[in-house]
Amino acid sequence: MSTKLVKAAQPQVDLDATRERLGRMGLFRAAERLEDLMALAVKEQMSPHRLVDELLGEELSFREERRIRTSLKLSGLPTGQTLGNFDFAFQPAIERSRIETLATCQWIRENRTLLIQGPPGVGKSHLAVALAVRAVENGFGVVFFRLEELLTALRRDADLAPAKLRRRKYINVSLLIIDEVGFEPMSRQEASLFFRLVSYRYERGSILITTNKGIKDWPEILAGDEVLATAILDRLLHRSHVLDIKGRSYRLRDLERVATERT
Ligand SMILES: Nc1ncnc2c1ncn2[C@@H]1O[C@H](COP(=O)(O)OP(=O)(O)OP(=O)(O)O)[C@@H](O)[C@H]1O
Ligand SMILES: [Mg+2]
Repeated sequence: MSTKLVKAAQPQVDLDATRERLGRMGLFRAAERLEDLMALAVKEQMSPHRLVDELLGEELSFREERRIRTSLKLSGLPTGQTLGNFDFAFQPAIERSRIETLATCQWIRENRTLLIQGPPGVGKSHLAVALAVRAVENGFGVVFFRLEELLTALRRDADLAPAKLRRRKYINVSLLIIDEVGFEPMSRQEASLFFRLVSYRYERGSILITTNKGIKDWPEILAGDEVLATAILDRLLHRSHVLDIKGRSYRLRDLERVATERT
């Protein structure tokens, strides 16, 4: 048999038909990249296996990027604060290696708490958000609340049956971020709702808290209730990480510069 005849016997595969099949399976990125990758495969004499692998790789990374974008949107995290744009040189009190360890998310896997405390402007919220972005990238469910917003949600859900409460995002997500604890003291009702939240999540999920208050000031935040404060701190600080940032305010760095230039 001549080669010509063998070739003629092979059915022609239409690129449009393959693209359509990929589309019907939901592999839209692969469908989009098919033609270019096939041309590249011919040019670089790729093995069939490598071509299939490249095509699936494109689809996977496209889906992963989309998942991260959607999760970030749903998390309520503010945008623009990442580990990449955090200036470690400005805040020498923060050990970079410690932050890099936290960025591996092992503490989230172990349902631990992270407490970031320090005066205004030292980068507490920035680091919290940046670590949360890492958590999303690592596949964890994250939700971000300023304490005030969280308390509003807790008051709204105060009478919810436990089964329904467990479906709330602030209860069932892997990482709950509570930003700005300590600005305003809680009422007695809010403090006990906060206790309920902490006990629900205890050893079931992680909490990241940023606060401008030290541990000794917690009773004052929690409606002056020493017993409740002890119970909450006991749960929060058991198997926790504490980042105590003693440093200058990043917000005031320009003012400091102007002041130094004048003297
Ligand atoms: N080391 C840093 N590198 C880059 N930007 C920083 C750094 N520290 C703080 N910032 C920026 O400065 C601003 C204030 O920081 P941030 O909001 O994290 O402060 P904070 O400690 O949470 O203060 P507050 O107690 O008032 O909430 C933010 O815009 C943040 O992105
Ligand atoms: Mg803050």
